[in-house]
Amino acid sequence: MDKKKFEFAYEVYEDSSKLNEKDAWLLNEARQVTEQAYAPYSNFHVGAVAILENGEVVAGTNQENASYPVGTCAERVLLGTLATLHPKVPIVSMAISYNSKEVKSNHPISPCGMCRQALLEYEGRVHKPIRLILGGMEGKVFIIETASQLLPFAFSSKELM
Ligand code: THU
Repeated sequence: MDKKKFEFAYEVYEDSSKLNEKDAWLLNEARQVTEQAYAPYSNFHVGAVAILENGEVVAGTNQENASYPVGTCAERVLLGTLATLHPKVPIVSMAISYNSKEVKSNHPISPCGMCRQALLEYEGRVHKPIRLILGGMEGKVFIIETASQLLPFAFSSKELM
């Protein structure tokens, strides 16, 4: 019997003022775009903004629905828009933030399981990692070098070939 361990390193910043200028700018864009979320059911407004290798910036926000499962997370709204407007262009970094009237936005959130799977697929499509910058409207910020680190033992296209 073999025992194996999975671990990965990520960066923790006390707050966004400790980030470099580009990362602070991107996180601020994600914070602002939370205003475009349509989240009348959860009141949890999520914003995601990506900067691409060609310098373009693409945003996404969560879009909920009265039929709850129809709602889509900010990250997957972003990826669908990106793949349509700028197909095959790798993402350099994606910032994700949130705002809510009901809970404090003072710590990072990380993408849900379905979004992790979608991020992994996009990394595979363009053969480049997606660097994640995760932070609330205030408080600590996490930087994760590649989204796939959030999904160990992932099911990917490799299994289908
Ligand atoms: N949500 C996102 O948009 N991204 C995440 O990473 C987590 C959750 C949305 C889905 C739903 O509209 C609301 O946040 C509450 O779950």
